[in-house]
Amino acid sequence: MRPCSNFDVGVISNGAIAVKDGKVLAFGKEKDLFSNPSLKKAEKIKLGGVALPSFVDSHTHAVFAKARLEDFSLRSSGFSYKEIKERGGGIISSVKSLRSASKEELEKKLLFWCEKFIENGTGTIEVKSGYGLDLENEIKILEVIKSVKPKVSLELIPTFLGAHSIPAEFSDSDSYLKYLVDKVLPEIKKRKLARFADIFCEDGYFTVEQSKHYLKAAMKFGLKPKIHAEQMKNYGGARAAISVKAISADHMDYVDLKDLSAIKKSATVVTFLPASNYFLGLSHFPDARPFIEKGIPVALASDFNPGTSPCFNMQFVISCAVTHMKMSIEQALFAVTLNGAKALGLKKIACLEKGYQADISVFELEDYRELAYYFGSNMNIATIKKGSVIYEKGNTI
Ligand code: NIG
Ligand code: FE
Repeated sequence: MRPCSNFDVGVISNGAIAVKDGKVLAFGKEKDLFSNPSLKKAEKIKLGGVALPSFVDSHTHAVFAKARLEDFSLRSSGFSYKEIKERGGGIISSVKSLRSASKEELEKKLLFWCEKFIENGTGTIEVKSGYGLDLENEIKILEVIKSVKPKVSLELIPTFLGAHSIPAEFSDSDSYLKYLVDKVLPEIKKRKLARFADIFCEDGYFTVEQSKHYLKAAMKFGLKPKIHAEQMKNYGGARAAISVKAISADHMDYVDLKDLSAIKKSATVVTFLPASNYFLGLSHFPDARPFIEKGIPVALASDFNPGTSPCFNMQFVISCAVTHMKMSIEQALFAVTLNGAKALGLKKIACLEKGYQADISVFELEDYRELAYYFGSNMNIATIKKGSVIYEKGNTI
């Protein structure tokens, strides 16, 4: 399939692809491609099953030390995310375990998760820091991402999320943000450790004004703004995103529809993370239709993290969006490919047209719509990165 035009997935049956220098040279019917004399020297791959551009997962918190099983048990007995935080769980409990983990341990864990992403058909992920919350540990996370990068075929894009919560050492959020700007951001810039800066704009974390001010400061250090917004209630994070022209605003469960025109003008990608709604047992899922009808680019991501979404399978995310967010299967496929790439500012990726990076995932299915239909399992049988097979079911390369 070639998701390059407006929700037209462009299905080609009995397809094949010709690849040169890691890029798509031609894509079409196997018989045409294999008999084309001008493609004689190009490497050709016959694609069985359903072949799609590999998923671009634009929102993960994949560096963490431990699963949050205590939080999980509490939630299953009825406690909310907020109540669990008040009992000492939540983000701060991940901070405690991360601070006592070594760089080597964290690298090993991230490598393990990278393999899982690849096995499930993902070719690129964004990875946030945010469980360190001090200079030493935020840098440690970003250094882990940097050292894992050359060891895996999965593409990793780092985001600095020091503004994820307020650590116990600080009595107020203003002084913590000042510390991030004065002490941590300069070091990140110096070591070139992140491409984006993110902040958790939510009641009990950081306000709209703080978010705007902080993201503007981060831009001065060369980081493009992203934001966690409107996850738990309508709090104004969408307006903060617009005002700093954030590349993406993520979660967006409780957006005031009056903000849609301004969002459209800002060119901010709206990224929904429905696996976290599922895992938190919420009955509320955002309705994607008003956003899509307005022409706003909508992405879907896993939000892979130990607290709200221990899910690395974008096939599940697609199914969630189609069954709970009123997205069509075709819209969801755009959201996990081209719009995921847009949320990361990536060009010439996540599409099977000529000149795009040859990142392809092959699923053991007869029809692309089955991707949203057979939910809860992994139907991926092969992942190709820049034209090379990096995963085949039962045979990891
Ligand atoms: O995207 N909402 C803030 N950050 C994460 C949750 C992090 C955690 O609970 O550890 C999210 O859902
Ligand atoms: Fe998140």
